[in-house]
Amino acid sequence: MMPYACFRPDLFWERYYYMDMLQKRTYFIETYGCEMNKSDSLDIALAFEQRGYTRARSEKEADVVVLNTCAVRENAEQRVYGRLGYYRSLKRSSERDFFIVFAGCMAQEKGREILQDFPEIDVCAGTYHYIDIPEYVAECERKNTRCITTDKSQYRFSGFTTKRAEGHRAWVNIIKGCSNNCSYCIVPILRGPEKSKKHEEVLREVRDLAEQGVAEITLLGQNVNAYGKDSGDIDFMELLEKIHRVEGIRWIRFLTSHPQDFTVEMIRRITALPKVCKHFHLPLQSGSDRILGLMNRRYTLAHYARLVDAVHEYEPDASITTDIIVGFPTETEKDFTRTLDACRRFQYDDAFMYKYSERPFTKAANFPGRVAKNIAGRRLEELIELQRGISIARNQKMIGKTATILVERTSKKNPAEMLCKSETGKMIVVRTRAPVGSFIHTEISGISGSTLRGMEKSFQ
Ligand code: SAH
Ligand code: SF4
Ligand code: F3S
Repeated sequence: MMPYACFRPDLFWERYYYMDMLQKRTYFIETYGCEMNKSDSLDIALAFEQRGYTRARSEKEADVVVLNTCAVRENAEQRVYGRLGYYRSLKRSSERDFFIVFAGCMAQEKGREILQDFPEIDVCAGTYHYIDIPEYVAECERKNTRCITTDKSQYRFSGFTTKRAEGHRAWVNIIKGCSNNCSYCIVPILRGPEKSKKHEEVLREVRDLAEQGVAEITLLGQNVNAYGKDSGDIDFMELLEKIHRVEGIRWIRFLTSHPQDFTVEMIRRITALPKVCKHFHLPLQSGSDRILGLMNRRYTLAHYARLVDAVHEYEPDASITTDIIVGFPTETEKDFTRTLDACRRFQYDDAFMYKYSERPFTKAANFPGRVAKNIAGRRLEELIELQRGISIARNQKMIGKTATILVERTSKKNPAEMLCKSETGKMIVVRTRAPVGSFIHTEISGISGSTLRGMEKSFQ
C-alpha cells in the first residue's frame, strides 16, 4: 500500500491550479446524508469548477469520483460500503484510471480503517476539509501517494456565496457542527462543536443572492437556533429578523432546530415574520420523558407540547414535522405507547422515523437494556402506520384551501404538470405553464395516492 500524506494545501495550491485548468477534467459527486452534507457537496463541486473541472454525466466518465458519506445510522454506512464495492470493481475493470475520494462523515469516523480495506481510494477527506478536496487530488497525483486529512483543528466556511444558488433557491450555511451531545448521536463527534458564521457575512450572502434573483433561502445548521451562542454574535431571532428585511427574498426556511433552544416567544416572533415559511420541523425523538432524559435531549414532553400549542395558536395553518427514534436502550412498551400518543396529539404533517442504531463513541452505545431488533422493528412499523394515517388526514384537510406555491420542477410522469412546493413544505402537482421559480396561486383540488393536486388560479 502507498504511504499516506498529510500536507498543507496552501503551499501548492497556486501551482497546481493552472495544471488542472489545462487538463479539462471532470468530476462526479455522490452524496448521502442530510442537507448539510448536500450543501457541502455543492461546495465541493464549486471547488472543482473553480479549478477548471466540469461535471461528468456519470461516474463512468469522471476523472474524479467523490463519495460524500453519512454515518448517522448503521444502514447509512452499509449503503456506502455497497457503493465502495461498486467503485472498486469499476476501477479494477476500467481501462481508464480515475481518482476515488472518500469524504464526509464516514471518512471522518473511520477513514484510516477504510483506506486499509479499500486500496482503490486515493483521498480520504474528513468533514473539515471538503473545500480542499481538489487540492488533495492534485497533491495525490503529484506525489503519487494516497492522502488522508481528518484533522479538526480549523474550520473554514466555503467562500462561495452567490454561486451556491440553484436557480430560484439557495442554502445559506449559518452554523456548522453541534454542541448538544444527544447520547445516541455521532454527529457532534464527526462535525465538531458549533461554529457560527459572522452575521455580517450571512447578510452579505443573502443580499447577493437576492440581487441574483433567488426567491427562497434555507438557513442551514445542525441546530440553527444555537446561532451566535458560540461566538457572542447576535442570536438566531435577531439574525432572522435582519434577513427578513432583505428585499427580494420571498421565502425563508430554516433547518434544523432543537426544541430545547426554542421558546413560545420565539414562535410568536417567527410567526410575525410573513416571509418565514409556515413550517416548523421540531424533532421530538421520543414521547417518554424518561427516554428523553436518557437521550440527553434536555426538554420534557410538557415543554415540547407548549411549543406545538404556540404554533397552533399563532399560525393555525402551519405544518409541523418531526424526527422520532424507536427502540432506544431500555425503551419499554409503555415508553413506546407514549411516543404513539404524542404523535396522535401533535398531529404531525410528516415524520422521519428511525430504529435506534448504536453508534461508536456515543454515550448510548454503553447503555444497558438493548431492545431486541425484532421488537424495535415492530414498533417502527406500528409508528409508520399510525403516522401515515395522520399525514393523509392532514393532507385531506387542505382540499378546497387556496395557497401560493412555488414551482419547483417539471413532473417526470407528465411534462405538462409541474411539481410545486407550498410554504408548509408540501409538494403539490399542478398543470401550469408557469416557469420554475415562479409563484402561482392555486386551489388544492384533491389527492392521488399521497400526492396533493392543485388547480392554478393565477400566476405572479
Ligand atoms: N441536528 C438535527 C438532525 C440530526 S440527524 C436534529 O437534531 O434534529 C437526523 C435525525 O437522525 C435525528 O433527529 C434523529 O432522529 C436521527 N438519529 C440520529 N442518531 C441516530 C441513531 N443513532 N439512531 C437512530 N436515529 C438517529
Ligand atoms: Fe445529533 Fe442532537 Fe446535535 Fe441533532 S441536536 S445533531 S440529534 S447531537
Ligand atoms: Fe449524516 Fe453527517 Fe449529516 S452523519 S446526517 S451526513 S451530519
